[in-house]
Amino acid sequence: MTYSTILGTGSYLPEKILTNFDLEKIVDTTNEWILERTGIQQRHVAAEHETTVMMAEHAGRAALNQAGIKPANIDMIIVSSTTPDLVFPSTACLLQERFGIAGCPAFDLNGSACAGFMYAFSIADQYIRAGKIKNILVIGSEVMSRIVDWKDRSTCVLFGDGAGAIVLGASKEPGILSTHLHADGTHKDVLYLPLGSRKTPNLESIKMVGNQLFKLAVNTLGNLFDETLAANHMKKSDIDWLVPHQANMRIIDAMAKKLNLPLDRVTITLDKQGNTSSASIPLALDQAVRDGRIQRGQILMMEGFGGGLAWGSALVRY
Ligand code: COA
Repeated sequence: MTYSTILGTGSYLPEKILTNFDLEKIVDTTNEWILERTGIQQRHVAAEHETTVMMAEHAGRAALNQAGIKPANIDMIIVSSTTPDLVFPSTACLLQERFGIAGCPAFDLNGSACAGFMYAFSIADQYIRAGKIKNILVIGSEVMSRIVDWKDRSTCVLFGDGAGAIVLGASKEPGILSTHLHADGTHKDVLYLPLGSRKTPNLESIKMVGNQLFKLAVNTLGNLFDETLAANHMKKSDIDWLVPHQANMRIIDAMAKKLNLPLDRVTITLDKQGNTSSASIPLALDQAVRDGRIQRGQILMMEGFGGGLAWGSALVRY
Protein backbone atom coordinates (compact mmCIF):
# COMPACT_ATOMS: atom_id res chain seq x y z
CA MET A 1 0.00 0.00 0.00
CA THR A 2 1.09 3.57 -0.67
CA TYR A 3 0.04 6.31 1.73
CA SER A 4 0.80 10.01 1.96
CA THR A 5 2.54 11.82 4.78
CA ILE A 6 3.42 15.42 5.66
CA LEU A 7 7.09 16.00 4.75
CA GLY A 8 7.28 19.74 5.39
CA THR A 9 5.30 22.89 6.16
CA GLY A 10 5.89 26.59 5.44
CA SER A 11 4.13 29.92 5.63
CA TYR A 12 4.28 33.61 4.77
CA LEU A 13 2.65 36.62 6.41
CA PRO A 14 2.73 40.18 5.01
CA GLU A 15 4.75 42.68 7.00
CA LYS A 16 1.98 45.22 7.55
CA ILE A 17 -0.24 44.66 10.59
CA LEU A 18 -3.69 46.22 11.01
CA THR A 19 -4.91 46.22 14.63
CA ASN A 20 -8.47 46.55 15.90
CA PHE A 21 -7.53 50.07 17.01
CA ASP A 22 -6.54 50.89 13.41
CA LEU A 23 -9.96 49.59 12.29
CA GLU A 24 -11.73 51.85 14.79
CA LYS A 25 -10.47 54.72 12.60
CA ILE A 26 -11.86 53.16 9.39
CA VAL A 27 -15.32 51.81 10.33
CA ASP A 28 -17.85 52.19 13.15
CA THR A 29 -16.46 49.47 15.41
CA THR A 30 -14.51 48.99 18.63
CA ASN A 31 -11.64 46.82 19.75
CA GLU A 32 -13.93 45.41 22.47
CA TRP A 33 -16.65 44.36 20.00
CA ILE A 34 -14.19 42.62 17.67
CA LEU A 35 -12.34 40.88 20.50
CA GLU A 36 -15.48 39.74 22.28
CA ARG A 37 -17.35 38.49 19.17
CA THR A 38 -14.41 37.03 17.25
CA GLY A 39 -11.22 36.77 19.35
CA ILE A 40 -9.28 38.71 16.69
CA GLN A 41 -6.76 41.39 17.83
CA GLN A 42 -4.97 42.09 14.55
CA ARG A 43 -4.50 40.83 11.00
CA HIS A 44 -1.74 41.05 8.35
CA VAL A 45 -2.50 43.05 5.21
CA ALA A 46 -0.61 42.61 1.94
CA ALA A 47 1.27 45.51 0.36
CA GLU A 48 0.99 45.95 -3.41
CA HIS A 49 3.99 43.69 -4.15
CA GLU A 50 2.64 40.92 -1.90
CA THR A 51 0.54 39.05 -4.42
CA THR A 52 -1.09 35.64 -4.07
CA VAL A 53 1.66 33.95 -6.09
CA MET A 54 4.46 35.80 -4.29
CA MET A 55 3.18 34.70 -0.88
CA ALA A 56 2.59 31.16 -2.19
CA GLU A 57 6.20 31.03 -3.41
CA HIS A 58 7.59 32.05 -0.01
CA ALA A 59 5.41 29.53 1.84
CA GLY A 60 6.17 26.82 -0.71
CA ARG A 61 9.94 27.32 -0.56
CA ALA A 62 9.87 27.18 3.25
CA ALA A 63 7.90 23.91 3.14
CA LEU A 64 10.29 22.42 0.55
CA ASN A 65 13.31 23.42 2.67
CA GLN A 66 11.84 21.81 5.77
CA ALA A 67 11.02 18.66 3.77
CA GLY A 68 14.55 18.59 2.29
CA ILE A 69 13.06 18.35 -1.20
CA LYS A 70 14.21 20.25 -4.27
CA PRO A 71 11.56 21.93 -6.46
CA ALA A 72 12.59 19.53 -9.27
CA ASN A 73 11.24 16.64 -7.20
CA ILE A 74 7.74 18.09 -6.98
CA ASP A 75 5.34 16.06 -9.16
CA MET A 76 2.22 18.22 -8.78
CA ILE A 77 1.21 21.67 -7.49
CA ILE A 78 -2.26 22.41 -6.11
CA VAL A 79 -3.12 25.92 -4.92
CA SER A 80 -6.32 26.83 -3.12
CA SER A 81 -7.21 30.52 -3.35
CA THR A 82 -10.35 32.66 -3.57
CA THR A 83 -8.13 35.59 -4.45
CA PRO A 84 -5.91 34.50 -7.39
CA ASP A 85 -3.88 37.21 -9.13
CA LEU A 86 -5.38 36.20 -12.49
CA VAL A 87 -8.48 34.21 -13.51
CA PHE A 88 -6.03 32.23 -15.61
CA PRO A 89 -3.29 31.04 -15.79
CA SER A 90 -3.76 29.44 -12.39
CA THR A 91 -1.65 30.52 -9.41
CA ALA A 92 -0.23 26.99 -9.50
CA CYS A 93 1.06 27.55 -13.07
CA LEU A 94 2.53 30.94 -12.12
CA LEU A 95 4.23 29.25 -9.20
CA GLN A 96 5.52 26.40 -11.32
CA GLU A 97 7.18 28.96 -13.60
CA ARG A 98 8.83 30.62 -10.56
CA PHE A 99 10.11 27.23 -9.39
CA GLY A 100 11.37 26.42 -12.91
CA ILE A 101 9.73 22.99 -13.00
CA ALA A 102 7.70 23.10 -16.23
CA GLY A 103 5.92 19.85 -17.06
CA CYS A 104 4.24 18.64 -13.88
CA PRO A 105 0.46 19.12 -13.48
CA ALA A 106 -0.42 22.37 -11.69
CA PHE A 107 -3.92 23.63 -10.92
CA ASP A 108 -5.99 25.83 -8.59
CA LEU A 109 -9.13 25.25 -6.56
CA ASN A 110 -10.94 28.59 -6.34
CA GLY A 111 -14.54 28.19 -5.23
CA SER A 112 -14.30 26.21 -2.01
CA ALA A 113 -13.26 29.34 -0.12
CA CYS A 114 -12.22 28.66 3.47
CA ALA A 115 -12.78 24.92 2.98
CA GLY A 116 -10.44 25.03 -0.02
CA PHE A 117 -7.34 23.82 1.75
CA MET A 118 -9.08 20.65 2.98
CA TYR A 119 -10.28 20.00 -0.60
CA ALA A 120 -6.75 20.50 -2.01
CA PHE A 121 -5.22 18.36 0.74
CA SER A 122 -7.70 15.53 0.12
CA ILE A 123 -7.13 15.57 -3.65
CA ALA A 124 -3.36 15.45 -3.09
CA ASP A 125 -3.78 12.50 -0.72
CA GLN A 126 -5.89 10.59 -3.30
CA TYR A 127 -3.26 11.12 -6.03
CA ILE A 128 -0.44 9.85 -3.84
CA ARG A 129 -2.45 6.85 -2.60
CA ALA A 130 -3.18 5.93 -6.23
CA GLY A 131 0.56 5.38 -6.53
CA LYS A 132 1.20 7.56 -9.59
CA ILE A 133 2.61 10.66 -7.95
CA LYS A 134 5.24 10.93 -5.25
CA ASN A 135 5.49 14.51 -3.97
CA ILE A 136 2.80 17.21 -4.07
CA LEU A 137 3.06 20.84 -3.01
CA VAL A 138 -0.31 21.94 -1.55
CA ILE A 139 -0.74 25.65 -0.85
CA GLY A 140 -3.40 28.03 0.42
CA SER A 141 -2.65 31.67 -0.42
CA GLU A 142 -5.04 34.60 0.07
CA VAL A 143 -5.16 38.38 -0.17
CA MET A 144 -8.57 38.72 1.49
CA SER A 145 -7.92 42.45 2.02
CA ARG A 146 -8.53 42.94 -1.73
CA ILE A 147 -12.03 41.41 -1.69
CA VAL A 148 -13.50 42.81 1.52
CA ASP A 149 -15.58 45.95 1.55
CA TRP A 150 -13.62 48.26 3.85
CA LYS A 151 -16.87 50.14 4.57
CA ASP A 152 -18.69 47.01 5.81
CA ARG A 153 -17.85 46.57 9.50
CA SER A 154 -19.53 43.17 9.67
CA THR A 155 -16.98 41.59 7.32
CA CYS A 156 -13.84 43.77 7.05
CA VAL A 157 -12.84 43.17 10.66
CA LEU A 158 -12.74 39.40 10.17
CA PHE A 159 -10.23 38.71 7.43
CA GLY A 160 -6.44 38.77 6.93
CA ASP A 161 -3.82 37.90 4.31
CA GLY A 162 -1.16 35.18 4.18
CA ALA A 163 -0.10 31.83 2.72
CA GLY A 164 0.58 28.36 4.10
CA ALA A 165 2.07 25.31 2.38
CA ILE A 166 2.44 21.59 2.97
CA VAL A 167 4.60 19.10 1.05
CA LEU A 168 2.88 15.74 0.95
CA GLY A 169 5.00 12.74 0.00
CA ALA A 170 4.48 9.02 -0.58
CA SER A 171 5.22 6.71 2.34
CA LYS A 172 4.81 3.07 3.38
CA GLU A 173 3.21 4.08 6.71
CA PRO A 174 -0.01 6.12 6.72
CA GLY A 175 0.48 9.76 7.63
CA ILE A 176 -2.86 10.95 6.28
CA LEU A 177 -5.27 8.46 7.87
CA SER A 178 -8.42 9.71 6.12
CA THR A 179 -9.97 12.80 4.55
CA HIS A 180 -13.67 13.70 4.45
CA LEU A 181 -15.28 16.29 2.15
CA HIS A 182 -18.84 17.62 2.01
CA ALA A 183 -20.84 20.44 0.44
CA ASP A 184 -24.41 21.74 0.61
CA GLY A 185 -25.30 24.26 -2.09
CA THR A 186 -28.66 25.05 -0.47
CA HIS A 187 -26.69 27.42 1.78
CA LYS A 188 -25.19 29.29 -1.19
CA ASP A 189 -26.57 32.66 0.02
CA VAL A 190 -24.95 32.58 3.48
CA LEU A 191 -21.46 33.46 2.22
CA TYR A 192 -20.56 34.41 -1.33
CA LEU A 193 -18.41 36.60 -3.54
CA PRO A 194 -20.05 37.80 -6.79
CA LEU A 195 -17.95 38.36 -9.90
CA GLY A 196 -17.66 41.97 -10.99
CA SER A 197 -19.42 42.82 -14.24
CA ARG A 198 -17.32 42.75 -17.39
CA LYS A 199 -17.55 46.54 -17.64
CA THR A 200 -16.18 46.97 -14.13
CA PRO A 201 -13.53 44.30 -13.92
CA ASN A 202 -12.98 44.65 -10.17
CA LEU A 203 -14.33 41.83 -8.07
CA GLU A 204 -17.21 42.69 -5.80
CA SER A 205 -16.82 42.22 -2.05
CA ILE A 206 -17.71 39.34 0.26
CA LYS A 207 -21.36 39.01 1.31
CA MET A 208 -22.05 37.11 4.53
CA VAL A 209 -24.92 36.30 6.88
CA GLY A 210 -22.60 35.86 9.87
CA ASN A 211 -24.96 34.54 12.53
CA GLN A 212 -26.48 31.85 10.24
CA LEU A 213 -23.04 30.80 9.13
CA PHE A 214 -21.93 30.54 12.73
CA LYS A 215 -24.67 28.00 13.57
CA LEU A 216 -24.11 26.02 10.36
CA ALA A 217 -20.38 25.79 11.10
CA VAL A 218 -20.86 24.52 14.63
CA ASN A 219 -23.41 21.87 13.57
CA THR A 220 -21.64 20.58 10.47
CA LEU A 221 -18.22 20.43 12.10
CA GLY A 222 -19.51 18.51 15.12
CA ASN A 223 -20.92 15.83 12.81
CA LEU A 224 -17.73 15.86 10.76
CA PHE A 225 -15.62 14.99 13.82
CA ASP A 226 -17.87 11.99 14.58
CA GLU A 227 -17.60 10.82 10.95
CA THR A 228 -13.81 11.23 10.90
CA LEU A 229 -13.22 9.38 14.17
CA ALA A 230 -15.63 6.56 13.25
CA ALA A 231 -13.86 6.01 9.90
CA ASN A 232 -10.62 5.39 11.83
CA HIS A 233 -12.13 3.46 14.78
CA MET A 234 -10.72 6.16 17.06
CA LYS A 235 -12.01 7.95 20.15
CA LYS A 236 -11.85 11.66 21.00
CA SER A 237 -9.14 10.84 23.53
CA ASP A 238 -6.89 9.61 20.68
CA ILE A 239 -6.62 13.15 19.27
CA ASP A 240 -3.53 15.13 20.30
CA TRP A 241 -4.23 18.35 18.38
CA LEU A 242 -7.11 20.16 16.72
CA VAL A 243 -5.85 22.20 13.72
CA PRO A 244 -8.96 24.17 12.78
CA HIS A 245 -9.84 26.78 10.18
CA GLN A 246 -9.56 30.13 11.95
CA ALA A 247 -12.87 32.00 11.54
CA ASN A 248 -14.11 32.83 15.02
CA MET A 249 -12.78 32.04 18.50
CA ARG A 250 -16.27 31.08 19.67
CA ILE A 251 -16.49 28.45 16.89
CA ILE A 252 -12.99 27.16 17.72
CA ASP A 253 -13.94 26.98 21.42
CA ALA A 254 -17.07 24.98 20.61
CA MET A 255 -15.04 22.59 18.44
CA ALA A 256 -12.42 22.05 21.14
CA LYS A 257 -15.22 21.24 23.59
CA LYS A 258 -16.72 18.71 21.16
CA LEU A 259 -13.37 16.90 21.12
CA ASN A 260 -12.83 17.33 24.90
CA LEU A 261 -9.56 19.12 24.12
CA PRO A 262 -8.16 22.00 26.23
CA LEU A 263 -7.34 25.13 24.22
CA ASP A 264 -3.61 24.52 24.62
CA ARG A 265 -4.14 21.49 22.34
CA VAL A 266 -5.64 23.67 19.60
CA THR A 267 -3.51 25.59 17.09
CA ILE A 268 -4.79 29.17 17.35
CA THR A 269 -3.53 31.93 15.05
CA LEU A 270 -6.84 33.79 14.73
CA ASP A 271 -5.96 36.38 17.39
CA LYS A 272 -2.90 37.57 15.44
CA GLN A 273 -3.89 36.75 11.85
CA GLY A 274 -7.70 36.92 11.52
CA ASN A 275 -9.39 34.64 9.02
CA THR A 276 -6.97 33.99 6.14
CA SER A 277 -9.47 31.71 4.36
CA SER A 278 -7.80 28.75 2.68
CA ALA A 279 -4.39 29.72 4.09
CA SER A 280 -5.45 29.47 7.74
CA ILE A 281 -5.03 25.71 8.32
CA PRO A 282 -1.50 25.35 6.89
CA LEU A 283 -0.49 28.64 8.55
CA ALA A 284 -1.63 27.34 11.94
CA LEU A 285 -0.02 23.94 11.39
CA ASP A 286 3.30 25.47 10.33
CA GLN A 287 3.44 27.72 13.38
CA ALA A 288 2.84 24.82 15.80
CA VAL A 289 5.34 22.58 13.98
CA ARG A 290 8.07 25.24 13.94
CA ASP A 291 7.68 26.22 17.60
CA GLY A 292 7.86 22.53 18.57
CA ARG A 293 4.33 22.11 19.96
CA ILE A 294 3.31 19.53 17.35
CA GLN A 295 5.60 16.50 17.41
CA ARG A 296 6.09 13.58 15.00
CA GLY A 297 3.72 10.68 15.73
CA GLN A 298 0.94 12.84 17.20
CA ILE A 299 -2.63 12.60 15.88
CA LEU A 300 -4.07 15.78 14.34
CA MET A 301 -7.68 16.58 13.49
CA MET A 302 -7.72 19.20 10.72
CA GLU A 303 -10.99 20.86 9.67
CA GLY A 304 -12.21 23.66 7.44
CA PHE A 305 -15.53 25.18 6.33
CA GLY A 306 -16.51 28.00 4.03
CA GLY A 307 -18.70 29.31 1.23
CA GLY A 308 -20.78 26.74 -0.58
CA LEU A 309 -21.32 25.65 2.07
CA ALA A 310 -18.30 23.37 1.77
CA TRP A 311 -16.53 21.64 4.62
CA GLY A 312 -13.91 18.97 5.14
CA SER A 313 -11.57 17.26 7.56
CA ALA A 314 -8.44 15.14 7.69
CA LEU A 315 -7.12 12.86 10.38
CA VAL A 316 -3.32 12.83 10.29
CA ARG A 317 -0.55 11.01 12.10
CA TYR A 318 2.07 13.77 11.87
N1 COA B 1 -18.46 46.37 15.19
C1 COA B 1 -19.55 46.71 15.92
N2 COA B 1 -20.78 46.19 15.70
C2 COA B 1 -20.90 45.31 14.69
C3 COA B 1 -19.81 44.90 13.90
C4 COA B 1 -18.56 45.49 14.17
N3 COA B 1 -17.45 45.17 13.48
N4 COA B 1 -20.23 44.01 12.98
C5 COA B 1 -21.56 43.83 13.19
N5 COA B 1 -21.96 44.61 14.22
C6 COA B 1 -23.31 44.75 14.81
C7 COA B 1 -24.40 44.36 13.84
O1 COA B 1 -24.72 45.45 13.00
C8 COA B 1 -25.54 44.02 14.78
O2 COA B 1 -26.13 45.21 15.22
P1 COA B 1 -27.73 45.31 15.42
O3 COA B 1 -28.04 44.32 16.51
O4 COA B 1 -27.92 46.73 15.82
O5 COA B 1 -28.32 44.94 14.10
C9 COA B 1 -24.82 43.39 15.99
O6 COA B 1 -23.45 43.79 15.87
C10 COA B 1 -24.92 41.88 16.06
O7 COA B 1 -24.63 41.33 14.79
P2 COA B 1 -24.55 39.77 14.56
O8 COA B 1 -24.17 39.53 13.11
O9 COA B 1 -25.79 39.09 15.05
O10 COA B 1 -23.34 39.40 15.55
P3 COA B 1 -22.72 38.01 15.89
O11 COA B 1 -22.67 37.83 17.34
O12 COA B 1 -23.31 36.90 15.07
O13 COA B 1 -21.19 38.20 15.43
C11 COA B 1 -19.81 37.54 13.57
C12 COA B 1 -20.90 38.49 14.06
C13 COA B 1 -19.61 37.83 12.10
C14 COA B 1 -18.55 37.84 14.34
C15 COA B 1 -20.24 36.07 13.80
O14 COA B 1 -21.57 35.88 13.36
C16 COA B 1 -19.36 35.09 13.09
O15 COA B 1 -18.18 35.02 13.32
N6 COA B 1 -19.95 34.27 12.21
C17 COA B 1 -19.24 33.29 11.47
C18 COA B 1 -18.45 34.00 10.41
C19 COA B 1 -17.54 33.09 9.68
O16 COA B 1 -17.22 32.04 10.17
N7 COA B 1 -17.12 33.56 8.52
C20 COA B 1 -16.16 32.95 7.71
C21 COA B 1 -16.53 31.61 7.29
S1 COA B 1 -15.23 30.88 6.49
